Amino acid sequence: MALFEVRGLDKAFGRNVVLNGLDLDIYAGEVVTIIGESGSGKSILLKAMMGLIEVDAGTIRFDGEEVTGQTEREWTQTRRRIGMLFQESALFDSLSVYDNVGYALQEQTTMTEKEIATRVAETLTLVGLPGIEGMAPADLSGGMRKRVALARAVAVRPEVVFYDEPAEGLDPINVTRVNRLLLGLQKSLNVTSVVVTHNLKAAFAISDRLALIHDGKVAATGAPEGFLESEDPVVREFIGDRMRQVLRAS
Ligand SMILES: Nc1ncnc2c1ncn2[C@@H]1O[C@H](COP(=O)(O)OP(=O)(O)OP(=O)(O)O)[C@@H](O)[C@H]1O
Ligand SMILES: [Mg+2]
Repeated sequence: MALFEVRGLDKAFGRNVVLNGLDLDIYAGEVVTIIGESGSGKSILLKAMMGLIEVDAGTIRFDGEEVTGQTEREWTQTRRRIGMLFQESALFDSLSVYDNVGYALQEQTTMTEKEIATRVAETLTLVGLPGIEGMAPADLSGGMRKRVALARAVAVRPEVVFYDEPAEGLDPINVTRVNRLLLGLQKSLNVTSVVVTHNLKAAFAISDRLALIHDGKVAATGAPEGFLESEDPVVREFIGDRMRQVLRAS
């Protein structure tokens, strides 16, 4: 059984039809990367899967239970099982790194302050930033901010982590670092990862499976190797000849 089962999802904003009968399965333990043109609905899909936007039609099942149509209170429960690194990945600027990473632990769990301190320290170590609890977000580099946002997303030890453009705006060294980190967390925390990225090299390197969104649907899905050799015109056009050569060589 799939951990997430998305069926016939529709979402439009006025006359802008974004999702149009989208189906997608995500299995426990895999890294799935959602790719597609800018504006194709990748972020909207993640937000729908977290109940942050309402869809017009279709169903989403999470761990066997239908979550579409849940009340806000039920969604709050569901969201505790899902960590999210938002595309904007804003930290709370007025809070220290400690309070940013510990926020959900303080708000949503019965952990003691001592337990929280231990968890925050462990999580900062996981993202390669041990001991920076006392720093302010404003004093961090872009790469560090991303990693603190990642620490915040996984501090509660979610079963699933959604990453929306985890490496956007980072230099190549930090892109590699964040991607390694993502795979490291996948192993050490035993999570399921759903990634959205424009970085095809990264997508091919980290994913068990890719899903290409086109015209509001998952137009193609499969392992990276299959994608690269696909004869499907939509896949071929999306990857492009130059990128195909780059990917074959890497
Ligand atoms: N709150 C909103 N109100 C109106 N339209 C929206 C809203 N959010 C998203 N859209 C529209 O929905 C479409 C899909 O947006 P989405 O953010 O999911 O794209 P995306 O695939 O994540 O793109 P990118 O790769 O640029 O991040 C876009 O046309 C966008 O303008
Ligand atoms: Mg987006």
